[in-house]
Amino acid sequence: MLSPTPPMGFNDWARFECAINQTVFTDAVDAMVSTGLRDVGFKLVTIDDCWSDHNRTSNGSLTWDTKLFPNGLLWLSDYIHKNKMDFGIYSDAGTLTCGGYQGSYDHDEMDAKTFASWGVDYLKLDGCNVDSVPGQSDEETYRQIYERWHPILPPLNITFSESAPAYFVNDKNLTDWYKVMSWVPKYGQLARHSYDIATYGSKGSVWESVMTNYGYNLRLARVQQKGFYNDPDFIIAGDPNLTMDEQRSQFALWSSFSAPLILSSDIPALTKEHLAFLTNRDLIALDQDPLVKQATLISQDEDFDVLAKTLAKGDRALTILNKGGSTASLTVTLEKLGFHLGQHCAYHVKDLWTGKTSLQANKIVASSIPSHGTAVYRVTPTAQCKQFLPGGQIFNAFSLNCVGAGNPVWSAKCNATDDQFWKISPQGTILAPFAGNACLSVKGSSVVTENCTSAPEQIWTHGVAGYLVNKATKQCLTEKNSSIRIAKCGDELDSQVFEIPL
Ligand code: GLA
Repeated sequence: MLSPTPPMGFNDWARFECAINQTVFTDAVDAMVSTGLRDVGFKLVTIDDCWSDHNRTSNGSLTWDTKLFPNGLLWLSDYIHKNKMDFGIYSDAGTLTCGGYQGSYDHDEMDAKTFASWGVDYLKLDGCNVDSVPGQSDEETYRQIYERWHPILPPLNITFSESAPAYFVNDKNLTDWYKVMSWVPKYGQLARHSYDIATYGSKGSVWESVMTNYGYNLRLARVQQKGFYNDPDFIIAGDPNLTMDEQRSQFALWSSFSAPLILSSDIPALTKEHLAFLTNRDLIALDQDPLVKQATLISQDEDFDVLAKTLAKGDRALTILNKGGSTASLTVTLEKLGFHLGQHCAYHVKDLWTGKTSLQANKIVASSIPSHGTAVYRVTPTAQCKQFLPGGQIFNAFSLNCVGAGNPVWSAKCNATDDQFWKISPQGTILAPFAGNACLSVKGSSVVTENCTSAPEQIWTHGVAGYLVNKATKQCLTEKNSSIRIAKCGDELDSQVFEIPL
């Protein structure tokens, strides 16, 4: 099942943890069919941890727990496939899974073949219990182990979900996390990059858990590419500790990211209200858009995150998250969405919650977004409109501070002001359209904004590593406290990894 768009389906973990059995999965399959979830694209059914016997068989292969799965996994696989769905399974790169079951360390080839013989289409390879190797960094050790699976899985047509990055995320230093994120796309199709999303009934704020993973996903837009998806973890529709608006928001935000949409819910218990948003074809089309771009930030302040996403055929999506505690409205100009406004140009703006379309010439008014709710629009320019240029904030992926236009250029908390808004041209210039139409440029060892000339000092490249490399100096944009400098590029230094509008 090597699909070109992000996977959609069901995984039991966040809802059931180890309380699984055959019926949990057959019930999920039946409900996915009867509710229409399968038919809108939720096709993958994955068994997470705790499915296996604690011991391998006499020939060394993994086998299922016969008490939990009396008919066996081959039977369950058939059940899933007969319902025109795909079968996913969980294992671990280390010696034991996170739940203490047999891991696949040193058994990669054998376990992959076993899974293939059961008709497995998708493997989630977790990263618990990976032993450190003396004289080698853990990042290198994980790389070597995950790399080994790379030649094995594609010939078996098994999608590879890598959990390695989740073992490097932290709030002190992201260098190793960035390094892991730079190699996971080479080996697999998706990567779980941050903390576990709150499990059902867990203590603590579930909304905070959703926001934490959303926040880490925002730092990784540059990594996503066709055939590789950043995975901010499960959609937890039905969690009683999230309001309905929060649940809708999670779905709209994940769809804006073209993230995997993997439901960890008791599917038969989902209500009409849940199903209404989970089967919203406009949101699913956003997620499964052929360009599979991740939305990036136009702006961020205490109250709102405003995101734009480039879609196929010149469309753009606008997503507005109300982070505040009360209902609020926001107007976003189409210029901020990257469009050039002109006399003969108009835009069809579809509200993806109501399905209503209106014609707009210069702005979108998002009125009455509930607390923790998300407004989401698809914008289709009429034929007369010029191509857009992506625009938004440039921020350091570690400090989360925004780069501001001025002389010198500076770094500060993002606050949605015009001097933190940049446009990226195809030639590689970075323009501050609302701060004197000036271009980001290098002058000696300083970074400034000055009249645009397209000189090499004003040309920048940006790639998966996250560096903004200046053409004239071959050096990297670097944040130092509240200042922005140009300095020798290091190896995924926190100070040099930036996210830009895409
Ligand atoms: C880790 C993963 C979870 C789940 C559990 C299973 O915590 O991040 O998604 O797979 O292990 O034990």
